[in-house]
Amino acid sequence: MYICPVCKKKLKKLDNVFHCQNGHSFDIARKGYVNLLTTKKRDPSKSGDKAEMVKARTAFLDKDYYRPLAEKTASLLKELLDGKKNAAVIDSGCGEGYYTCIYAHSVPEALFFGVDISKSAISHCMTRVHIRGLKNCEFCVASSFELPFKNEMADVVVSTFAPVSNDEYARVLKTGGRMIVVSPSPKHLFELKSAVYDKPYDNAPNNYALSKFELERSEIFEYTRTLETTQEITDLFTMTPYFFKTSVQGLEKLKRLDSREVTCGFDIRIYKRIF
Ligand SMILES: C[S@@+](CC[C@H](N)C(=O)[O-])C[C@H]1O[C@@H](n2cnc3c(N)ncnc32)[C@H](O)[C@@H]1O
Ligand SMILES: [Zn+2]
Repeated sequence: MYICPVCKKKLKKLDNVFHCQNGHSFDIARKGYVNLLTTKKRDPSKSGDKAEMVKARTAFLDKDYYRPLAEKTASLLKELLDGKKNAAVIDSGCGEGYYTCIYAHSVPEALFFGVDISKSAISHCMTRVHIRGLKNCEFCVASSFELPFKNEMADVVVSTFAPVSNDEYARVLKTGGRMIVVSPSPKHLFELKSAVYDKPYDNAPNNYALSKFELERSEIFEYTRTLETTQEITDLFTMTPYFFKTSVQGLEKLKRLDSREVTCGFDIRIYKRIF
């Protein structure tokens, strides 16, 4: 399914190596993923989420506070794929694999390809695959802006809290293929922002410049959960972009909270490829 990131020819798997006809080769790591990020512009060790961020994300996600979102997206995938055998789904910017593995488990007739620029994140995806014994998902290290797939190979691309590429997602999607984009809703984690900021604002909706897609459906999906410990509160806040914008005093306020009910809010959009 992969193409060579150097010459764009098909990659074939032979033992533990992917080869193209022009002699480029990519070893499959012991855990079972392949690193296809060869672009000289980026040093993979410096790209995407670092090991400690992946660890914090895993610790939080494993508490299943976001499981309703994973199940909601899985049910949208089921609906869009409508029982089609071997449909291909790309989870672009898949992170450490929490969502991809829930999708693969829920839609066993489809094939899932998780892509992330962070090697630590992709390595953890394989841990999840082995624990769950999943046979219908593969993972590679690559950029969402240079996906290692041939044109029109995918039925659906999913992007959850991750980059969105108008051109690249349109290229890999089949005609009429769908893209599911999940981003924070205006009220996502508002209660944590209220604890930290004097004047908390709603999150502004994301405005993607998507000339190759039309919006087919959108939904604000919200529910509340109680974070039980200071550790859970700080783990979650550390995962968000607000963390980097918060003063030391703000973070101190956060550390004084011992439990808090929060809104988990997601803006879920389904786009159709139109070019
Ligand atoms: C906020 S995390 C979301 C991860 C996952 N979708 C989730 O919700 O748990 C964003 C992810 O995008 C990845 N990322 C950032 N830039 C990327 C790029 N250019 N190509 C692929 N992945 C990228 C990061 O490494 C990180 O894993
Ligand atoms: Zn090649």
